[in-house]
Amino acid sequence: MPTPKLALTDADVARANVDALVVGTVQGSDGVALAAGAESVDAGFEGGLVELLSLLGAAGKADEVIKLPTRGATSAPLLVATGLGTIDGEPTGEQVRRAAGAAARALAGTDRAVTTLSRLDLGAAAEGTALGAYTFTTYRGNSGDAPLGRMDLSVPSARAAAPKRELARAVAVAEAVRTTRDLVNTPPNDLYPASFAERAVALAGDAGLRTEVLDEQALRAGGYGGILGVGSGSSRPPRLIRLHHEPAAAKTRVALVGKGVTFDTGGISIKPAANMDHMTMDMAGAAAVVATAVLAARLELPVEIVATVPMAENMPSATAYRPGDVLTIYGGKTVEVLNTDAEGRLILADALVRAGEDSPDYLIDTATLTGAQMVALGNRTPGVMGTPKFRDRVVALSQDVGENGWAMPLPDHLRSELDSRLADIANVTGNRWAGMLVAGVFLAEFVDDAMPWAHIDIAGPAFNTGSPWGYHGKGGTGVPVRTLAAVLSDIAEHG
Ligand code: BES
Ligand code: MN
Ligand code: ZN
Repeated sequence: MPTPKLALTDADVARANVDALVVGTVQGSDGVALAAGAESVDAGFEGGLVELLSLLGAAGKADEVIKLPTRGATSAPLLVATGLGTIDGEPTGEQVRRAAGAAARALAGTDRAVTTLSRLDLGAAAEGTALGAYTFTTYRGNSGDAPLGRMDLSVPSARAAAPKRELARAVAVAEAVRTTRDLVNTPPNDLYPASFAERAVALAGDAGLRTEVLDEQALRAGGYGGILGVGSGSSRPPRLIRLHHEPAAAKTRVALVGKGVTFDTGGISIKPAANMDHMTMDMAGAAAVVATAVLAARLELPVEIVATVPMAENMPSATAYRPGDVLTIYGGKTVEVLNTDAEGRLILADALVRAGEDSPDYLIDTATLTGAQMVALGNRTPGVMGTPKFRDRVVALSQDVGENGWAMPLPDHLRSELDSRLADIANVTGNRWAGMLVAGVFLAEFVDDAMPWAHIDIAGPAFNTGSPWGYHGKGGTGVPVRTLAAVLSDIAEHG
């Protein structure tokens, strides 16, 4: 999917020869007001823009997009006023990102526009535009809904080095989010462990990463009992993908692990039919990790990154694993499977142990792991667990980039609920309490206690089953790529 072209401009936006002109509005105490950056546009309207907008019912709320013909007040024939919501002095980056995304969605079919949102936050305006203009039309006969073609971003000086750098990073990050969305949105008949691995290797190879794929024979030889067990019901065998970014200047090594279940029927503990189609997104963690590793290489981040990505399809069949089976995880721990629908933690167990063998300085895993994440935090708030100090660092960075991860505990007392009659641990408890935390406690069993570790449950946030909002359409969101990118950049800077 092509990104809309993004370019810097320092010319007067009111005189820009484009199809549409985007300005920000804010929700003031007495109605709609213009955000900074729209001054010359308002001058074109002889100072009457706010009055016109309130006549049209504008309030300046988030996700509010008002279009009005300019009738010569500006060179662009169409003005698009996009709401930032209430601001405290200045809008946050995320407010700018969402307003830019909503405007980009509203500009589908437009060739070229210019925005003043970049006067508020260039990187956020660029990311929001690129992500709001995302469409996935591979499977449509008539791809009539062409996205916005080009957005010029207004800045004080288009020739300065700093804005060029900021735009380049935003474009690279947005590209990683878009890649993740493409993978998540690809249907499960075309995206299965082997085809995902091929796509991951192609993406990573282009970016100069070292790649390795373990097929089912290699997984058997290596003793990856979790991945093999979960994959055993499918005619499409499992894989383990390894990607390595090894820059010369790296002082720190980070391990990334992402759940890659290309479709989750639940297996023999089969899921109900309603909304089972959503389980096409159960590889969103894998997609985010692959795209983030590729992004790190593109940005030449001076951090060593080893991605370990387990892939399987969870199907019921005559060869499927059963409730009651005992699996031996890579490294030798045994798990009694009491529910084949708690499959993510089984493939992650193999991957976490393998990732630990590389002795990373930090370990981050992400997964669409539990429906309980959505019960606890809803559809837009990832749950972040792990070792408290690193968990809180990941949460703070996730808040910074607007993905809004929230810290959750891993209470010790939950561990005994996973005691098994015959194995080292069971994969589920006998009750439904604290399902997200229980899954985290299970994973902790496969991570060295001394390892700074964060586990990000994205069951809800990875996939938008509701209406479009901000810079999200329906389907894959690309969460938590921007959190992972922020963490890697922060580690590159501070260790
Ligand atoms: N992939 C699901 C979790 C999920 C559910 C993600 C809904 C997104 C939306 C996971 O494999 C799963 O089935 N988890 C079970 C665990 C249970 C059996 C302990 C769940 O959440 O019901
Ligand atoms: Mn499941
Ligand atoms: Zn699953």
